Amino acid sequence: PTAPVVTIDGPSGSGKGTLAVSLARRLNWRVLDSGALYRITALSASKQGVDLGHAAAVANIATTLDVSFLAGDQGQPLRVILGQQDITSEIRTEACGAMASTIAVYPEVRLALLQRQRAFQEAPGLVADGRDMGTVVFPNAQFKFYVTASAEVRAQRRYQQLKQQGEIVRLPHLLREIQKRDERDTQRAEAPLLPAEDALVIDTSELPALQVLDYVAEIVEKTL
Ligand code: C5P
Repeated sequence: PTAPVVTIDGPSGSGKGTLAVSLARRLNWRVLDSGALYRITALSASKQGVDLGHAAAVANIATTLDVSFLAGDQGQPLRVILGQQDITSEIRTEACGAMASTIAVYPEVRLALLQRQRAFQEAPGLVADGRDMGTVVFPNAQFKFYVTASAEVRAQRRYQQLKQQGEIVRLPHLLREIQKRDERDTQRAEAPLLPAEDALVIDTSELPALQVLDYVAEIVEKTL
């Protein structure tokens, strides 16, 4: 029997990352932050001086990444470890997000990350967050959610997050960046951002994170 999977897809700032980590803690399941894999790939490539326009070279980096995730304590963000190094805050910058969405359009890169993502499916279960978890990576997942919010609300959330990390950005600029990234993610030919046909869509614009968690956890727990 294969381990159950919950997929949580949606645009950046929708609250899917927070939801995925808190749900995984609640269920005591593993968590896959697939966006982090794209961010780490982009960061490693640029650190190694690889041209981000060179799909095959970037895909090669994606294949050889030595990455792990640590769930840590309640209320703490997921720690991302590359080799021995904690790169959690380094990959959370806007610049890194933009680089990630640039290399995420390459089919070679997506393919290189596919098996790596599927390997996270282990007992007792997996919560996977990203853009194409329910559509491409885990099409047979038992539970699929698509979490979204208005671009304005998402920009506002990102603004608060970046401010806490000490990164100063202007809100109108952030809103434009989010709209640009949405456009790139939804318009690309390969695994575009869209809800799986069988996903439950949740708009979190007006919902506090804890309420979203309770709602989703209840659905999962009652069907297990
Ligand atoms: O979710 P996060 O903002 O960390 O993702 C960074 C970028 O990685 C996204 O803008 C998207 O282009 C890409 N991505 C993807 N497929 C995923 C997760 C992220 O293409 N499953």
